[in-house]
Amino acid sequence: MNKGDLLYAGKAKSVFLTDDPSRLLIEFRNDTSAFDGEKVEQLDRKGAVNNRFNAFIMQHLEREGIATHFDRLVSDCESCVKRLEMIPVECVVRNLSAGSLCRRLGVAEGQVLSPPTFEFFLKNDALHDPMINEYHAQAFGWATPAEIDVMKAQTFKVNNVLKSLFADAGMLLVDFKLEFGRFGNQVVLGDEFTPDGCRIWDAQSRKKLDKDRFRQSLGSVVESYEEVAARLGIDLEASIAS
Ligand code: TMP
Ligand code: ASP
Repeated sequence: MNKGDLLYAGKAKSVFLTDDPSRLLIEFRNDTSAFDGEKVEQLDRKGAVNNRFNAFIMQHLEREGIATHFDRLVSDCESCVKRLEMIPVECVVRNLSAGSLCRRLGVAEGQVLSPPTFEFFLKNDALHDPMINEYHAQAFGWATPAEIDVMKAQTFKVNNVLKSLFADAGMLLVDFKLEFGRFGNQVVLGDEFTPDGCRIWDAQSRKKLDKDRFRQSLGSVVESYEEVAARLGIDLEASIAS
């Protein structure tokens, strides 16, 4: 597979065409951004760590019956994925209160949410990813009712699978964000699952091990991602078959 032209550069990943029209190449960069790109830094090793982390999680989800775009690792910082037509809404599930939920509702961080809550956000940096509901998604044609149902069901399924994966390794999956896309007539999990797009706390100490370390200037950002990877048994050095 040959790497072609740059299709799209996001805040932390770049997406390239390949010689196979059904496949794209995603490059995980060291760029780390928060607050809709207001705070940006380069963090050594982050691209490579997130590339392996994402591969491990996506493969785990596939084994659990969740369709993802992931195909294979290509290099340290690159993965080959199916080319999806992305749906411009972000799906967030929360098991514990944190982040924008606390700011929006004035509630304390760390409360167990029963049931876990679900929120849609519009993927639009200029508007700061406003929260939307399924009526907005349908009325503006961002997703059909059937697609909304699949995204919700799959996001809750991912929550069940990953909550227990992290719990088995002594961690709490606080919340996370997923993005989906269309592949033929199937709705498939796209984008990434890495500590850049979720909150993970140590179950005992509640130490933050995710991108909140960057947002809140707590230090040891990539070291914490590596700690999570090590606890999950992810081999960050494994060789990649060519
Ligand atoms: P929030 O508390 O800022 O709404 O974020 C909820 C979860 O979703 C958190 O794990 C971070 C993730 N997230 C992203 O990764 N990117 C985004 O643009 C948004 C809105 C949330
Ligand atoms: N992903 C968004 C950004 O890079 C929001 C965040 O993670 O804080 O700005």
